Amino acid sequence: MATILEVQNLKKYFQTPGGELHAVDDVSFRMEEGTTLGVVGESGCGKSTLGRTVLHLHESTGGKIFYKGEDVTHVDKKKLRELREDMQIIFQDPYSSLNPRMSVSEIIKEPLKRKGGRSNEELEREVERLMDLVGLAQRFATSYPHELDGGRRQRIGIARALSLNPKFIVCDEPVSALDVSIQAQILNLMKDLQDQFGLTYIFITHDLSVVKHMSDAISVMYLGQMVEKAPAKELFYHPVHPYTKALLSAIPIPKVDVERNRILLKGEITSPVNPKPGCRFAARCEFASEECRNPQALEEVKEGHFVSCCRCKEFV
Ligand SMILES: Nc1ncnc2c1ncn2[C@@H]1O[C@H](COP(=O)(O)OP(=O)(O)OP(=O)(O)O)[C@@H](O)[C@H]1O
Ligand SMILES: [Mg+2]
Repeated sequence: MATILEVQNLKKYFQTPGGELHAVDDVSFRMEEGTTLGVVGESGCGKSTLGRTVLHLHESTGGKIFYKGEDVTHVDKKKLRELREDMQIIFQDPYSSLNPRMSVSEIIKEPLKRKGGRSNEELEREVERLMDLVGLAQRFATSYPHELDGGRRQRIGIARALSLNPKFIVCDEPVSALDVSIQAQILNLMKDLQDQFGLTYIFITHDLSVVKHMSDAISVMYLGQMVEKAPAKELFYHPVHPYTKALLSAIPIPKVDVERNRILLKGEITSPVNPKPGCRFAARCEFASEECRNPQALEEVKEGHFVSCCRCKEFV
């Protein structure tokens, strides 16, 4: 498999009145074409900022981004336009990201129209094809977003994201606003589309159970940093980082022979503004010691399983 995306020491800092907010701080990972990387963590840990920075919707503060082998960290307008076609985003709430005054057909058509080069008739045919692709009946072509339920609205968001034949999609909580029964339908659709077009997904969610079946690998973020990354099953069944264990303990997993007691996190979340060196989770970690004040990088504890914790060897 070919590497499609490589991110090295990526940083995105925001200037705030209180100082520099480290939303994404030294994150590195690599993705093979056609795979899904699940990105999980609590609200504010930097998942969306990571996704948006990879897509050049935010300018990075530091680090490097390689896409299809090319350094795209800093690009000119022409290259940016090219990347924006190839790399798309699907949002959590399709309602707020879809223009309420445009019909379904107009919404899906818009990116194609902007790109140009197609006659009206070709555009109409393309919209029909995209609606079929995402399972939206043609009778909804003239409907407006508010007339449709959440699942159908998300199908519009997906059709629109697919309209320019992208290869890479950041899915930012795409099912979090949907009922559980509809979540499964949308996840299945996304999986089918991935298989059909060889798409690569970064799948962002705060809900670990959603990415379990979707992801090849899962990375856990805490305050702007990746604290653990492993193949999906490995992460679920052999978590190492105390934070990952706490996250996993919060979801009920039936028929697993490991005993799972709910771990309740105590202590305050450290501020992402001007963070000190050392483990950012230490303030809430029951295993924290003096050593945790030292800077800590991801270490490979088993093949493909990386953990950022000075006691990770003990916890494997
Ligand atoms: N444009 C911005 N300006 C200043 N700070 C920002 C900006 N965007 C995000 N942040 C801050 O960056 C940090 C990461 O935010 P981000 O939205 O990436 O988190 P998240 O993991 O996606 O959270 P959620 O699960 O709530 O969507 C937060 O502390 C947030 O307040
Ligand atoms: Mg977010």
